[in-house]
Amino acid sequence: MKKQEQNATDQSILNVFSGESVENPFAIFSKMRTMGAVIPIPSPIAAIKGQTWMVTRMEEAMLVLKDHAHFTVDGGSIDGNNNLMQSNADPSAPPTFLNAKSMLSVDEPDHRRLRRLVSKAFTPKYMESLRPLVQKIADELLDQVEDKEQFDIVKDYAYPLPINVISEMLGVPKADQAQIRVWSEAIAHGLGLGRKEPGVAEQIRAFGEYIVQLVAEKRKHPADDLISQLVAIEEEGDKLDESELISMISLLIFAGHETTSNLIATGTLMLLDHPEQLEKLKKDLNLIPGAVEELLRFNGPSTMAGPRFATEDIEIAGQQIKRGDMVIPVLKSANRDELQFSDPEELDLTRSIKRHMAFGQGIHMCLGAPLARVEGDVAFSTLLRRMPNLHLSIPREDVNWQFMLSSQGLKSLPVAF
Ligand code: HEM
Repeated sequence: MKKQEQNATDQSILNVFSGESVENPFAIFSKMRTMGAVIPIPSPIAAIKGQTWMVTRMEEAMLVLKDHAHFTVDGGSIDGNNNLMQSNADPSAPPTFLNAKSMLSVDEPDHRRLRRLVSKAFTPKYMESLRPLVQKIADELLDQVEDKEQFDIVKDYAYPLPINVISEMLGVPKADQAQIRVWSEAIAHGLGLGRKEPGVAEQIRAFGEYIVQLVAEKRKHPADDLISQLVAIEEEGDKLDESELISMISLLIFAGHETTSNLIATGTLMLLDHPEQLEKLKKDLNLIPGAVEELLRFNGPSTMAGPRFATEDIEIAGQQIKRGDMVIPVLKSANRDELQFSDPEELDLTRSIKRHMAFGQGIHMCLGAPLARVEGDVAFSTLLRRMPNLHLSIPREDVNWQFMLSSQGLKSLPVAF
């Protein structure tokens, strides 16, 4: 590739991840795969030292995410460089997962210690037991819009369903959910690779301060919920300190709804975009769990796994990665890897999928995947069963996207039924 062309491509890649462009990200991901399974990009974050690499294909992305000896989530552990937390940090703000350690940002053995404290609450078996609750919430939300001529899938369904479920589990008061939406939207929209919108630090601080208050409330009035259990563990002494407690709760609240909302909203649009596939689903709602996997593969909520940093020099796909280099597995690209899937750019709801990368891989693989699967299953089956004539109530080209979680999410999705 000529130098000028290379610069233009590098810029397009950075623009997609920082939200500077609303170009179709999948066209960029496809181009990236033709450039290589592991490609160097200019550093998206000024403070990051060393080369930055993007991993575009599944085999190599799996390798990076599973090889915990050669890759760490904690850049700061290598010669004190590349501490992403520190570059985000506002020392006076409460410790959320964005500016302080959480299971997502530490290696073993701390990771195992933190994840174990909550893993029982997220087993597939326990999640199945929550299905009636999820069903009840989905039905109540559709009851509220049933008499209207149209409604917004994002505001009225995709957003409130997961936040209601995770709030029930954690013990977050219902009255606080609207405010939590404001914070999490600002965070998902305001942060990206090399992106930090003005004002996002204040939103993170306010979210953290809210959690500090919530914990104080649970200390005074413990209840039968996950936050009260975590507070009790912290009070016992040696398994969880206060900063880890606040950070863990912020992670569970944010991760527990932001991504799943995106799956439900974008997934609904993908279904409406493929009417012949949608017909198949409507005829047989038993196809929905498999369809959820395909929607996760085709356009899942997470563009990338959190950056990893090489702990030693290592060669992958012919590239010489040096100790300390930042390596970014691009999940949405790996999920369209033509070496893994036939017709990867096609949505095929009856495709048999052995594996995809929407939930990541390795020890940090999504804790909430079983919950997200139950929520996706219930959300789509309830919607299609109750509103089989669901259709967009605005022209397709007027559908509003916005930068969310390092890629595009829907701002709203007006529908009639
Ligand atoms: C469709 C919905 C979801 C998607 C696509 C998703 C995606 C992901 C991905 C890709 C990771 C790994 C990040 C990395 O390795 O850097 C992750 C981790 C995580 N997710 Fe999810 N997630 C979803 C729903 C949820 C839900 C409902 C929860 C509930 C609390 C949750 C909690 C977490 C937590 C706590 C981690 C960190 C796990 C660890 O570091 O051990 N996620 N998620």
